[in-house]
Amino acid sequence: MNAPARAVRLAPSILSADFARLGEQVRAIEAAGADLVHVDVMDNHYVPNLTIGPLVCAAIAPHVTIPLDVHLMVEPVDTLIPLFAQAGASLISFHPEASRHVDRTLALIRAHGCRAGLALNPATPLAVLDHVMDKLDMILLMSVNPGFGGQAFIDATLPKLAAVRRRIDAHCAAGGAPIWLQVDGGVKLDNIGAIAAAGADTFVAGSAVFGAPDADGGYHQIMGRLRDAARLGTTTSS
Ligand code: DX5
Ligand code: ZN
Repeated sequence: MNAPARAVRLAPSILSADFARLGEQVRAIEAAGADLVHVDVMDNHYVPNLTIGPLVCAAIAPHVTIPLDVHLMVEPVDTLIPLFAQAGASLISFHPEASRHVDRTLALIRAHGCRAGLALNPATPLAVLDHVMDKLDMILLMSVNPGFGGQAFIDATLPKLAAVRRRIDAHCAAGGAPIWLQVDGGVKLDNIGAIAAAGADTFVAGSAVFGAPDADGGYHQIMGRLRDAARLGTTTSS
């Protein structure tokens, strides 16, 4: 009990935003307290959906001062990294199944001045982290199968988060640099406390945030409630 309080970072996913007014929407979430803008990039190849390319990323970048957190659900990965770095990404995550050479791709992201994240699908084992912890700035655990917003949280993610939290803590205790632990998919007001208690510190929320009315401070209100619930979870974790 009384574990030290962890950071709580909220990363609304613009997958659930109104694409006809993206600039206005990202400004609204920054004003409402978002820590990151989560940009879901899908290619109709690695995942069965097609969304945002570097041109759209570059178009929204001038509208915010918070970092752009680009989640690549594309295959192959490497050719797009320089393009998204150029388009204003601060963080770039990718799925190990989509890269022939995971270590090389992680190095490529950092070589382009971005922080590097590895995204693990619900069925992807943690062994892929074994030899690259020092190349990671973030580990993204998918709590749904990638491709769509608005899916239900997969409960098996909770013990998986706890296992990754133990790995990160051991890595830091051995002198390693901090690594963020992000959760993505089905994060809502009723489960974010348990997700935080399991060890997440960075929370993607698409439909939970953009499903709220943006008039009358709706984004501000839902993000405040998500943050409070996550903090409560963090402080009650063992
Ligand atoms: C799924 C995406 C998620 C998704 C989250 O492939 O990576 O970021 O948009 O949306 P919600 O919060 O609605 O599950
Ligand atoms: Zn995502």
